Amino acid sequence: MKISILSVFPELYETFLHTSLVARAQQQSLVSIETKSFFSCVKPKERIDTPTFGTGAGMVIRPDVVQAAVEGQEELHGKAFRIFFSPQGKKLNQNMLRHLYTRLQDVDHLMLVAARYEGMDERVERHYADEVISVGDFVVLGGDTPAMLFLEGLLRLIPGVVGKQESVEKESFSGPFLDYPEYGAPVEWQGMQVPDIIRSGNHGAVQAWRQEQAVKKTVKHHFSWIQKSQVNEEEKAAVRQALPAHYMALLHGDVLIGKEKKPGTTSVTSIDIHDIARSSMTYGFKEFSVVTPLVDQQRMVEKILSFWKGEAGQLYNKVRHKALDRVVVRESLDEVVAAIESKEGAPPIIIATSACDMSDESRIISFHDQEKVWETGRPVLILFGTGQGLSPECIDRCDYILLPLKGFGKYNHLSVRSAAAIVFDRWLGSNEKIE
Ligand SMILES: C[S@@+](CC[C@H](N)C(=O)[O-])C[C@H]1O[C@@H](n2cnc3c(N)ncnc32)[C@H](O)[C@@H]1O
Repeated sequence: MKISILSVFPELYETFLHTSLVARAQQQSLVSIETKSFFSCVKPKERIDTPTFGTGAGMVIRPDVVQAAVEGQEELHGKAFRIFFSPQGKKLNQNMLRHLYTRLQDVDHLMLVAARYEGMDERVERHYADEVISVGDFVVLGGDTPAMLFLEGLLRLIPGVVGKQESVEKESFSGPFLDYPEYGAPVEWQGMQVPDIIRSGNHGAVQAWRQEQAVKKTVKHHFSWIQKSQVNEEEKAAVRQALPAHYMALLHGDVLIGKEKKPGTTSVTSIDIHDIARSSMTYGFKEFSVVTPLVDQQRMVEKILSFWKGEAGQLYNKVRHKALDRVVVRESLDEVVAAIESKEGAPPIIIATSACDMSDESRIISFHDQEKVWETGRPVLILFGTGQGLSPECIDRCDYILLPLKGFGKYNHLSVRSAAAIVFDRWLGSNEKIE
């Protein structure tokens, strides 16, 4: 495959193209790479850029210069698959690299177009680009380092470029999990030992250890990657194993009530018990505590639960029975915390949910902050309030407060069972991306 790189500064590629595996790929005739300067398309001393229209002065590369460069290069090497680089493009990841690699199998000419200044005139990308690629949510000075990044990612997929093809196939982001940790000599360095198992020579045990480490590391540091990935049943089970135990509680005491938002208690609602039980089971919560200090309310919940947990409930609806089997009635938050501590051997990290904006609070976390919570290794308890929400005293007890759920509309009055389902889904749900 011929690769043309169009750039304002082709000299940037001199070392890059003649070093290491990028050089070897060319020596082995796996690819042939050529750079072309936009300056070669204008007369000496003529400008290649032009000011942008409107306020906010900036420059773009002249469309006619890009045209001359693209079409000139295509006259030499045939029609190209053209990739432009822009922070506004599709974000590059390993899946996208693989897809592009497959699409490029029948392509003889690949063109990488690196802009500078304010980027390209909008019409140029629309007219020429087969793909516009961003290398991340940040802006660099020009498209050359993005083009180099892309090229390195692409070249290593071509068989023969990297010594061991197996290492390419099993690396981070080639499935739902990152690569496992690697170790080399010396066995002890800075007081740290290479894990014994790695040197045990027991191939099966090493494989199992590596898989476990890879899953643990990904769950902890890159959970959003797993959420976006396609996972099979075996991988799902591995994720479940690596996640800390999650619990949730629906509070009817320790809440505010009425328009005046006074401290008080609310009545238990049977539809909340049913719906939240089903949602919490779907997202892998170990237990759902219905918390009420009122004895008559506790009795009422017990009565509902005794039907569903018993044989009659099981016969009537097995699936509902399963979910309600994880529901318990508790008198207070203290009782919930004590029960979790006795089961898990550690007190839970408590996360409050609230519809109020508390962005000035240092304990605020978002739905992207699982790592912060999970790095403690402790079980997790998520609290939901009824009435007008959790009381300030209850929120004071919590380690973290989740950002309120919101859409882009003006109305914001979710029922607690809807809020619970959304929180579970954002915090622990799979949200596969088809690429
Ligand atoms: C300074 S940037 C222009 C940024 C543009 N005004 C914007 O805010 O979207 C100049 C050029 O650098 C390249 N570039 C900068 N950041 C990039 C990124 N994250 N991914 C891909 N290309 C990038 C693109 O070729 C871009 O046209």
